[in-house]
Parts: sequence; C-alpha cells; structure tokens
Amino acid sequence: MNDSSANDNVTDDGISNNSVARIFRTPSYGPAPESAAPALDWLRAHEGRFGHWIEGAWRPAAEGGAFAVQNPATGEVLATVAQGTAADVDAAVAAARAAWGPWAALSDHARARHLYALARELQKHSRLFAVLESLDNGKPIRESRDLDIPLAARHFYHHAGWAQLRGSEFPLCAPLGVVGQVIPWNFPLLMVAWKVAPALAAGNTVVLKPAEFTPMTALLFAEVTRQAGLPPGVFNLVTGDGRTGQALVAHGDVDKIAFTGSTEVGRLIRVATAGSGKKLTLELGGKSPFIVFPDADLDAVVEGVVDAIWLNQGQVCCAGSRLLVQEGIAEDLLARLRTRMETLRQGSPLDKAVDLGVIVDAVQRERIAGLVAQGVAEGGRLWQPSWASQVPACAFPPSLITEVGPASTVVQEEIFGPVLVAMSFRTPSEAVALANNTPYGLAASVWSESLSLALDIAPKLKAGVVWVNCSNLFDAAAGFGGYRESGFGREGGREGMWDYLRWPGEAGRGAMGVDGVDPSGPRDPATSASPRAGWVAGTAPLPAPADEAARDLADAAELADADGAALPPLDRSPKLYIGGRQLRPDSGYSRAVMDAAGGLLGLVGEGNRKDIRNAVEAAHAAAGGWAGASGHARAQVLYYLAENLEARREEFAARLAAMTGADRDRGRQEVDASVARLFSYAAWADKHDGAVHQVPIRGVTLAMNEPIGVLGLAAPEDFPLLGLVSLAAPAIAAGNTVVALPSEAHPLAATDLYTVLDASDLPGGVLNLVTGPKAALARVLAEHLDVDALWWFGDRSAVASLEAASAGNLKRTWCAPGPRDWLDPALAEGRAFLRQATQVKNIWIPYGE
Ligand code: NAI
Repeated sequence: MNDSSANDNVTDDGISNNSVARIFRTPSYGPAPESAAPALDWLRAHEGRFGHWIEGAWRPAAEGGAFAVQNPATGEVLATVAQGTAADVDAAVAAARAAWGPWAALSDHARARHLYALARELQKHSRLFAVLESLDNGKPIRESRDLDIPLAARHFYHHAGWAQLRGSEFPLCAPLGVVGQVIPWNFPLLMVAWKVAPALAAGNTVVLKPAEFTPMTALLFAEVTRQAGLPPGVFNLVTGDGRTGQALVAHGDVDKIAFTGSTEVGRLIRVATAGSGKKLTLELGGKSPFIVFPDADLDAVVEGVVDAIWLNQGQVCCAGSRLLVQEGIAEDLLARLRTRMETLRQGSPLDKAVDLGVIVDAVQRERIAGLVAQGVAEGGRLWQPSWASQVPACAFPPSLITEVGPASTVVQEEIFGPVLVAMSFRTPSEAVALANNTPYGLAASVWSESLSLALDIAPKLKAGVVWVNCSNLFDAAAGFGGYRESGFGREGGREGMWDYLRWPGEAGRGAMGVDGVDPSGPRDPATSASPRAGWVAGTAPLPAPADEAARDLADAAELADADGAALPPLDRSPKLYIGGRQLRPDSGYSRAVMDAAGGLLGLVGEGNRKDIRNAVEAAHAAAGGWAGASGHARAQVLYYLAENLEARREEFAARLAAMTGADRDRGRQEVDASVARLFSYAAWADKHDGAVHQVPIRGVTLAMNEPIGVLGLAAPEDFPLLGLVSLAAPAIAAGNTVVALPSEAHPLAATDLYTVLDASDLPGGVLNLVTGPKAALARVLAEHLDVDALWWFGDRSAVASLEAASAGNLKRTWCAPGPRDWLDPALAEGRAFLRQATQVKNIWIPYGE
C-alpha cells in the first residue's frame, strides 16, 4: 500500500483513510450493477408489445385490449401485454386439446427428451431470464440469478426423469388431458417451472396464465419452448388479470386446474370448479412459524431468519413470518437480530450486493404498510433499522414487530412483505400450540441443536414442509404444498406427479357429464326434500314388517318363558355409533329400512346436523391417540375386525341378502371380500412408507405420509358392507379418524357392525357411523370447519354442492360418483385409496459441521 506517505489521508487514529486496516474497519459497498441491456434488447426486439402464445406462435389479442407492465423499481414501462378474453382462452384450450393426443402418445423417452431440451434452453439463457425477472418483479438479481432460475431449470431436469420413468413408475395411470395453470407474481418463472414441468412429464398439455404484474419471463419461456422444439400447442400462454384466470378456470374443456396464489382466490376457484370433475390443486397462503429452542445456535438462527422473512422482500407464501422463541433466550436473540437488520442492504434490484429489492407493486406496498400500521395500532411495537426512512417509496424496510398476542392481526394475517412478528413460549408443547394457531399450514422451521427434540416437534406441526435448522429450501425432488387452508396437492417429487395423472378407477370430467351437470338436474342436498317414504314420523302410518323380518320376528317369538308363554321379541333398533357408544339420534326420529320388495326390515336412527357435530367432536378426541399409534397397532385392530366379521359371516350374508334382494351366496361373497379388504389394509397399515428424497444438500429430506385428520365419508349405495369397509379401512389404517355415512337405502349392514367394532378393540371415536339422509349429512360434513377431508361415493348430482361447500376450510374432497366394482381389488383398494387418506410432509434435515 502506498498511502502512508499521504499525510492528509491520515485521520486522528493514525490510520490512513485508504489503508486496508481502514477498509476492514469501515467496509462499505460500491455499486455492483448488473447490466439490463440484453433484457431491454429482447423487449425492444418485440417492440415492447406481446400477444398470447398459442399453438407455438404469437397471436395478437382478440378483443381484450392491452395493459402496461412496469419495472417496480423505476416505474418505467417494460412492455404492453394482452388482456386475455374468453375467446383467447378458448383458442389456447383448443390448441392444447388438439396437441394433446399426439403429445400423450409420444413414448416416455421422447417426452423426456423434450423436457430435457427445455432445461437446457433455460440454462443457456439463464442470465437473460434472471435480469428480466428482477426488472419485472423487483427482486434482487442475486436471488433471481442464484435461486429462481437454477431451480426452474432443475425442475425441468428432474421431471425429464419422471417423463422417462412414467410408464414404469406410474403403471396403469394416464395423463389428464388439458391442464389450466394460474400463477402468482412472487416467483414468476419458478412457478412456470413448478407447474409446467410435471404437467408435461405426465403427458398433459398446458394453458398457463401468468400474473398480471409479472408476465415477462413466462413470455420469454414461451419463445424458449419453440427454440427447444416443443411441438406447437403443447404449451400455450394467455396473459391477463384475474378475469382471464377466471375464464380459464371456467373453461369446459380443461381437465385440471393448478393454482398458486391467495387463499381468497383459491376459495373462489374451489367453488368455480365444484362439480365439474376437473382435478384441482391449490397452493395458497401461509403464516409459517419459525420456532427457536434455547439450545439453538443463535448466530445460525439469525441468518435463518434473514432467509426466512427477507428473501424476496418477504413476498413468499412459506415465509417464516412468525418468530416463536423460547422466553429464556428471546431478548438475546432479538438483540442479535436487530444488529443484523441494521446491516441488511436495500437497493436497486439489479445491484448484485443488495439483500432487499423493491415491492412488486404500489398496491402490495400499501397493503403491507396498512397491516403494519394496524399492528402498531393494536399495541405492537415496531422496530426498523436506522436507515429505514431512506428507502425509496417503492420499497419497504425490514421490520420487526414485538409485543403482539396470538390474536393480533399481524400474527394471524399473511402480510406478504418483509415484516416479522415475534412472540415467546415456555415449553415445547406451548410452541407447538402457538405454531398451529393459524388456519394455514404451509411450512414451519424448527431450530434446535437437539435433533431428537426437532424430530419430535416436526410431526406435531400442521404444515406440509418442515425445515430443521434451515429455512426456505426448495428442490424439485421434494414435494411442496400445504395442509389446511394453505391448500392441497404437492408440487415436486413423486408425490407431485400423482396430481397430474389419473389412476385406474379415478373419476374425471367424463364421470360427471361434460360440464358436471347431471342429466337428472342439479339437486341441493341441504334443501332437497327428505325421502319421506323412508321416514317414520308420528303422523305417518308405520310400514308393515317385510316377510323376512316377519319371519325373524316369528323365530324370536318361539322364545318362551318358564310357563311356556311366548315372549315378545327384544327390540334391537340400532342407534347411531358415536365415540364408541350407541347414541340415540338427536332428531328423535327413526328411518324405516325396506327390503327389496318394499317391506319393512327394521329401523335406524335419523341423524341430523347435531349428531354430525357430536361425531366430529368424538373423532377429534380420538385423533391424537389414533394417529400416534404405530402402524403395527392399527394393523392389529384391523385384523381383529376381520376376525370378528368373519365369525358372523352367515348373519351378515343374510342381512345383505334381505336388504338388497340378492341371494345368500352373493351376500357371502360380499362379506368374504370385506374380510379380505380389512386384511389388505391391516397389511398396508405399516407399509404405506414415505421416502427419503435426494435433494442437493448435505442432509436428508424425509417425505412422511401423515394422516389428514378427521375424515368424513359417504359410502356407496351398492355393496352396503363392502363399500363402507373399502373406504373406512384405508382411512383408519392411515391414522385418520372417521365420520362415516353408511348406505342410505341399506344401512343395516353398517349398524350391525357396531358390535363388531366394540369387540375388536377399536378405540371409541376412531370410526363413527351416522345413519340418515346421506346427501344432507354429507353437506353438513362439507361445511364443517373441523373436518379435514370429505369422500363422497354417492349421487352425482350432489357433487357440485358438496365441493362448493368444502371451500370454507378448503378441505380436501374426493368425489367419485358412479358405479365401481367393489369386488375388484384393482379398482377398489390399494395405494390410490391410501394416497387420498394421507398428505405428505417433507422434513428437511441438513447435517454436518
Ligand atoms: P391473487 O391470488 O389475486 O393472484 C394470483 C393469480 O390468480 C394471478 O395470476 C391472478 O391474475 C389470478 N386470479 C385472480 N383472481 C382470479 C380468479 N377469480 N380466478 C382465477 N384466477 C384469478 O393474488 P394477488 O392479488 O396478486 O395478491 C394478493 C395477496 O395474495 C398477497 O398479498 C398475498 O398475501 C397473497 N399471495 C399469495 C401467493 C402465494 O404464493 N401463496 C402469491 C401471490 C399472492
């Protein structure tokens, strides 16, 4: 260094201003701008105007006009893009439909080569994509360059693999057809990859609608598909705002909708697709907890928080936005965090040395500012670094809010900005309770040097992803998606592929009729008249006993007392089965069960809304213990059930014959198949294994199949015993607790099961049975906010209303109306049922020094 001679550069402490020592004492950053020129050249080459991408070429907008897309950091207009109309969506869907046949008919290997080519093209243009992404979205170039674009390419590589293996790894499965995909603005290209790669790998064709704030990299991707030689029509893109998304969701020739965005819009889409037979996956909002135990490495925690909440300015659905810290270390951690926040840098998104860029749009910035102001108004204490007042209007400073309670608005609402709220806890169980105190369930992060504690906590968190001592890690090999109101379905990994395939026996649009409207006309189960013919109300004449029942009564009448006088038969009218006890229905009514000839066979309880509520409560009470039981223990109960059912084979066979009018042999066949089915799920109870995904970190990612929780199910009308067993057994084998609605016309096989259940060590509340008007009771289950999933195997006309009603808590639905051969194990048992009964949690565990 030559500065020692320049005395005027020496300050009071004797150190030259230019010396290395000085530079180390007061490090500052010079500008490190990334050039925007290549991206601007690309925009200019298109004269700043874009149409839709349909059938492998640009198409001018039909009639919808156009809107400007701005660089949020400067306000400059990047381009004008088309506002897609229903006609544009129509054209895109038609192109996708025409391309689907040949695309699906390609060999797995040929499709794999196409995905591979897309991955390569993304890499070849990676910097162009990265710069364009930062210009359009406002995220730091460091993030788009090092995270968004590489991860997008990785998704195409990984799914080139699934395309190659589709036939061998997903035998008997078929692609769905045309998939409509609607994506948000926070990871514009990455969301393209998450959606398009699995869809194409499975053999579907795509119509994609990017977010109106950030369509640019999707438009560039469209051109890349042509360079990569993708056949025209396999990928189509229509730009526009929510109205364009709505038109795509509503389109009658789309087989699946995949959506990422706000929970509010997710709910609308659930309602809009109800009854259409379109497969649906939703990846929605979150309010993810970041839990710090006292033995955590606090410096690592601080960097983890930076990743968790300041990545992409906090505009991340899985952002660790709720810091939960053990009270003994809270002060220490918050002090370290404030020190670190002081050193964060906000600046131009194209500066390679900034931590935070700008917020995607003024609307979003206002939303963040509004929520923060509300947090302060409610008593929260806001802390921002000293430089916060210097950030430009398009940015929002990193913010920490303390002194909040579990019910504070900022603790409950997704802020979707660089705002962290912090609370403390005392014990691990309090941490879990606070973490789960949200309707969301997307992700969670757990920090402790004790892996045993972290792995004890992870399964207790209601979240689709749990990061142990890390945060915001993503990879194509590990599924990503939510529990509860964060949506359903997974993106990435083997589990993600299932959502783009139709497995044998799975109903699709065909099963619902073209537009989901049953030819017999829609029927709202909640308001439709009850089947009065089957009721026994005070004023109605009681039906006469059927012949067979009369014979039973006569047999019973042969009982005599000690004096030889005939005894009247004991009444065996079944009640409802709730919490392991037989309970009278709240309504005080009974329902007559007729035989095939129309004679009275017996009475069952007439369940109502209150009974369902009680059954759901009982199922909840049993849920923890049953989900926590080992697979082996659940198998033992299922074997015992099979054993006890078989012991009463003749009785059940006779009952089935009497109810359905079939002969005894047919009844025996159904009982035998039910016993075999119970055996199958006893076998599966400890074999529906998860996986260890191979993600590119030093560590493991455990994909665990977890029960969904409380599951409501409506059994089919045909096969009154086997149908019920075929649904209840996989649900309880997987660790769920169940509220089941037996066959409405033939419920006696189910009510006869009560004593079998009692005799088989099934804990009370694991399987609850409520007889009565099936569609109306299912509607109550669909609306119930504490029911996590609903399976409907009933009348087609009820599907639309049930799916729409399920939108309240975004419960998973499986509506499979129409006949199914329940005797055929290929259609009526196995993994497809177990997948519906479980949700995958991915737990990331990095290791090493
Ligand atoms: P949004 O959910 O309205 O938009 C997401 C996508 O859905 C966009 O492509 C939009 O055009 C489309 N869309 C809007 N309404 C639609 C409809 N009725 N039918 C079909 N498609 C429709 O999200 P927005 O307004 O951009 O952001 C609002 C809030 O949503 C954010 O503040 C944040 O809290 C949350 N959000 C969550 C995201 C996530 O990744 N989970 C992503 C974006 C936003």
